[in-house]
Amino acid sequence: MNFLLTGGLGYIGSHTAAVLQQAGHHVVLLDNLSNSRLEVADRIGRITGTRPVTEVGDVLDTIRVRMALRHYRIDAVVHFAGLKAVGESVAQPLAYYHNNVAGTVSLLQAMAAEGVRSLVFSSSATVYGQPQYLPLDESHPTSATNPYGRTKLHIEQMLHDLAASDATWRIAILRYFNPVGAHASGLLGEDPNGIPNNLMPYIARVAAGQLPHLNVWGNDYPTPDGTGIRDYLHVMDLAEGHRAALEHLQRTTTPCDVFNLGTGRGTSVLEMVRTFEQATGQSVPYRIAPRRPGDVAECWADPTKAQRVLGWRAERSLHDMCASTWAFTAGQRSAPAPHILAV
Ligand code: NAD
Ligand code: UFG
Repeated sequence: MNFLLTGGLGYIGSHTAAVLQQAGHHVVLLDNLSNSRLEVADRIGRITGTRPVTEVGDVLDTIRVRMALRHYRIDAVVHFAGLKAVGESVAQPLAYYHNNVAGTVSLLQAMAAEGVRSLVFSSSATVYGQPQYLPLDESHPTSATNPYGRTKLHIEQMLHDLAASDATWRIAILRYFNPVGAHASGLLGEDPNGIPNNLMPYIARVAAGQLPHLNVWGNDYPTPDGTGIRDYLHVMDLAEGHRAALEHLQRTTTPCDVFNLGTGRGTSVLEMVRTFEQATGQSVPYRIAPRRPGDVAECWADPTKAQRVLGWRAERSLHDMCASTWAFTAGQRSAPAPHILAV
């Protein structure tokens, strides 16, 4: 089948592109390069044997999206494109509403006009807000504490409204928990600009000697070791979850449905540090620091609906998440300049 991946050069999109190509599908990547590099398409090509067709463009450009949908005879869209930094969304809310919400309206208008009504959307466990119970299932109440989270909630509501207006839509909303790790080749991974906000890329930079120590944001939470607990999920498992969702859309009669993608297991910050050290042999010095505003103590998924309906389950271990992150990080440090890789 032919799939359009908006934001397909980004962290999750690139892994998903590799998985879909290796399953025999054709993918077209549409990305405005705001948080990625074209060279990623070459790397997907080195992994799969085929460099994916890549359109440098913006989902806000409705005409451009329509042309791509028509030209490549797209069967379904996976919508990864979006801005995702919580702190930045507080400082620049309009940029987030414009890019994420208006960008999705533009994409949906293009899809409706071209008669492409199958969509997988990247949502987030952030829509559960402060957990009222654990594990979090899909019927847990939703709320948002920052503009980024509100863009995801607005988009989810818009997708439900759209499906209610026209039952021929087939939409899977995927709520990701904490994606980490990298492709086994070491060619794809998460490489944020500047100082990372998220735990795993920060740990990797400390292990690489690029940052002096990890700040552990709080050790006084009501958890066994006092540090925050999250449901970390291997990005390759997540990529395979998209393949399962796309296949599900071909056979379902439900216009719009929501799925958690997580492992169902919680891991604390200190457990993650220890596992990283064991998996890589690198030391990760850390200091206990005050809590980070807005953080919840614990958050993990009930992933049983995805297993039951999509036939998908996360398989890879925390050890693998750490080892693959390190293989990618170490490879980046020794890699030739991007222009050489692109030749
Ligand atoms: P990413 O930043 O690596 O990838 C997003 C890609 O979208 C980038 O390549 C960027 O250049 C592109 N993009 C942004 N705005 C665009 C636009 N208007 N038009 C075209 N391209 C655009 O992020 P990611 O981690 O791969 O996340 C993908 C999606 O998953 C996002 O929607 C994000 O909110 C969601 N998500 C991510 C996480 C996570 O922890 N990584 C967790 C939950 C949800
Ligand atoms: N942490 C540290 N030090 C750091 C970074 C993080 O101790 O330098 C801790 C946090 O306090 C938290 C845990 O590590 O306890 C995980 O933090 P992340 O920033 O990696 O992940 P979050 O769960 O806070 O948030 C992420 C994304 C959100 C998304 C959410 C759910 O950043 O956008 O997962 O998918 F909404």
